[in-house]
Amino acid sequence: MNFRWSLVLLLVSPCLQPVASLLYVLTDSDGLGRVFDGVGGLSGGGATSRLLVNYQEPYRSQILDYLFKPNFGASLQILKVEIGGDAQSTDGTEPSHMHYEDDENYFRGYEWWLMKEAKKRNPNITLIALPWAFPGWVGNGKNWPYDFPDITASYVVKWILGAKQYHDLDIHYVGIWNERNYDSTYIKLLRYTLDKSGLEGVRIVASDNQWEPVALSLLLDPELSRAVDVIGAHYPGTTTVLDALKTQKRLWSSEDYSTFNDDIGGGCWARILNQNYINGLMTATISWNLVASYYDALPFSRDGLMTAEEPWSGHYVVDSPIWITAHTTQFVQPGWSYLQTVGHLAAGGSYVALTDGQGNLTVIIETMTHDHSECIRPPLPHFNVTAQNSTFQLDGSFASIKKLQVWRSQFNFQTQKPSFFHRLAPLRLLDGSFTLSLAEDEVYTLTTVTTGQKGSYPSPPPSQPFPKNYKDDFNVRNPAFSEAPNFADQTGVFEYFINMSDPGPHVFTLRQVVTQRPVTWVADADQTISVIGDYNWENLTVTCDVFMERRNTGGVFIAARVNKGGQAVRNTQGVFFWVFADGTYKVSNDLAGQTILAEGKSGTRAYGWHTLSLTVKGQLASGQLNGYQLWKNSVVLTPPSGWAAIGTHSFELAQFDNFAVAAE
Ligand SMILES: *[C@@H]1O[C@H](CO)[C@@H](O)[C@H](O)[C@H]1NC(C)=O
Ligand SMILES: *[C@@H]1O[C@H](CO)[C@@H](O)[C@H](O)[C@H]1NC(C)=O
Ligand SMILES: *[C@@H]1O[C@H](CO)[C@@H](O)[C@H](O)[C@H]1NC(C)=O
Ligand SMILES: *[C@@H]1O[C@H](CO)[C@@H](O)[C@H](O)[C@H]1NC(C)=O
Ligand SMILES: *[C@@H]1O[C@H](CO)[C@@H](O)[C@H](O)[C@H]1NC(C)=O
Ligand SMILES: *[C@@H]1O[C@H](CO)[C@@H](O)[C@H](O)[C@H]1NC(C)=O
Repeated sequence: MNFRWSLVLLLVSPCLQPVASLLYVLTDSDGLGRVFDGVGGLSGGGATSRLLVNYQEPYRSQILDYLFKPNFGASLQILKVEIGGDAQSTDGTEPSHMHYEDDENYFRGYEWWLMKEAKKRNPNITLIALPWAFPGWVGNGKNWPYDFPDITASYVVKWILGAKQYHDLDIHYVGIWNERNYDSTYIKLLRYTLDKSGLEGVRIVASDNQWEPVALSLLLDPELSRAVDVIGAHYPGTTTVLDALKTQKRLWSSEDYSTFNDDIGGGCWARILNQNYINGLMTATISWNLVASYYDALPFSRDGLMTAEEPWSGHYVVDSPIWITAHTTQFVQPGWSYLQTVGHLAAGGSYVALTDGQGNLTVIIETMTHDHSECIRPPLPHFNVTAQNSTFQLDGSFASIKKLQVWRSQFNFQTQKPSFFHRLAPLRLLDGSFTLSLAEDEVYTLTTVTTGQKGSYPSPPPSQPFPKNYKDDFNVRNPAFSEAPNFADQTGVFEYFINMSDPGPHVFTLRQVVTQRPVTWVADADQTISVIGDYNWENLTVTCDVFMERRNTGGVFIAARVNKGGQAVRNTQGVFFWVFADGTYKVSNDLAGQTILAEGKSGTRAYGWHTLSLTVKGQLASGQLNGYQLWKNSVVLTPPSGWAAIGTHSFELAQFDNFAVAAE
């Protein structure tokens, strides 16, 4: 972090008119800065890649190429994933590898698949894992994972061992508990358990929260300091704190960005990627999230590097953050070093320079303006940017460089004609110096690396709403996945189930499997729920066969116009048609079952299949049980529209089959 610019006068025009320009020296003559660890994306925290897995080919592979394929698009160097904990972790739940204490399964969810797809494209990709939540048994009934730290450590280490054993994936880093308190005893025990399991190479990141108090803890506790390799802070606003620097640990922005991925978001990302090092000496930055592949009406819609939220149409959007990422990742590899000569530009914006130590140099410049005030954590200084002529002087090992490749992105908010990651003519250097005429809202990469490429595929199919007629009998399955397409679990976990002793027709079903409240990350509902479909659906019929597995107190529902998910799931409203194992039914306006629209006798019981059908049209709802009208003309005023859903009355086993929606 060196502010080595000085004002000089350069003669640049033939009419001898002197033009002021600022000079920035880029050199390694006083040694190098920190080692670059990469730029990455985060799948999870939670269920942010849920819809991606159900894209048809070739679109699914195209999306993965834009994210991970080297010299194509974002060319990501880090993939961080959630260790599913059966609980809501922002945009859904992700399944645990151990729902129960005596249960182990390393084929649930989609993170294994995603890691393998990433590694297929970039064998050198760094893999990081972090839990948001834990199955209830890990906390022994308390919402706290540290009372039995040996159980928690063993649970996490099993996931890492499973990654290797079943998927040949080496996990490079593991975290503690996302954005929650850490416990020093637990961290030390995690280190010990990793070592004892032959995982000495797996490094620990702590604490995926603020810089403090973990930085101070590391300074005060040498044993803790030996256990932790990286301090990971979230949304650091490009700055760090003195204690963190004093630890001499590597510093990462282990979760960042979280901004709507239009061009304003792309600009935020450009500034973050440069200034996290300049202001905060952070050597890795990870975007929450990797790809916006969750229903648009869920919280934080489109906060991904690109958008792929329509598996039913194949439509996806390569948004500007993909190309902003490429400005760094296509020209700098983990293991390269920052130069000490990085900093802010005199009229706003910033520059970083990195080298592979073998003569290669990459310079990245950004001039993002206050138009980017919507960034989640805008760094305050140097926020006002104006056009400027900047001269860079290469010195030290770089003095003899004669030619640089040039890549440019222009946001051009005034003209509304942005252009991203365009290759310009190479720049010929005179005495190691070059001058750039920088406008507002531009990103430049100048580099000796010649392998950059702007990958492209033909345009994907146009956007389409979710199909109005949708059916799933859960008989046709993609064996790679444990979940049925398009269902987005918001509390509980709904998995494919096979009952070999069923004579038919219910051998293949979908089963809710979480039987105890997890160690939650946010306030999960007391019921379980999985949503599906189009948030704009008003008038529709939802039909599903249901099978309760809890006697007496068991209950299940189907629903329409379901209006909330994510962290707001407890307050979900809609039209919920419940049947219970005690032979009753209920119609409620909310998931909590407090606002009753109708109730009565149904004759329903556990361990028998029943067919439920719910029709909502205008302000009236009616319900059928096994083909007979059970209730009708219940008045529904709000919400006006929402998803369809299935779920259970509590954390209990239950099955669903022959799900169908017919929407108008
Ligand atoms: C992986 O890293 C090694 C060593 O740094 C390098 O030689 C190799 O080219 C890299 N492979 C890819 C596909 O980037
Ligand atoms: C940026 O400009 C605004 C007015 O446009 C001014 O109020 C603010 O103080 C400036 N900020 C800095 C850091 O110079
Ligand atoms: C940059 O230099 C060019 C001449 O090379 C001049 O026309 C322009 O006004 C300068 N821009 C700024 C912002 O100084
Ligand atoms: C720089 O990297 C390229 C690969 O892009 C490599 O071929 C070259 O040898 C490296 N060194 C220099 C000095 O350009
Ligand atoms: C499996 O099917 C058999 C036969 O229909 C039934 O008795 C049993 O309850 C079912 N088990 C589960 C878990 O669904
Ligand atoms: C839903 O049905 C009501 C009552 O028939 C009608 O007024 C309304 O326009 C319908 N909504 C849509 C989106 O079709």
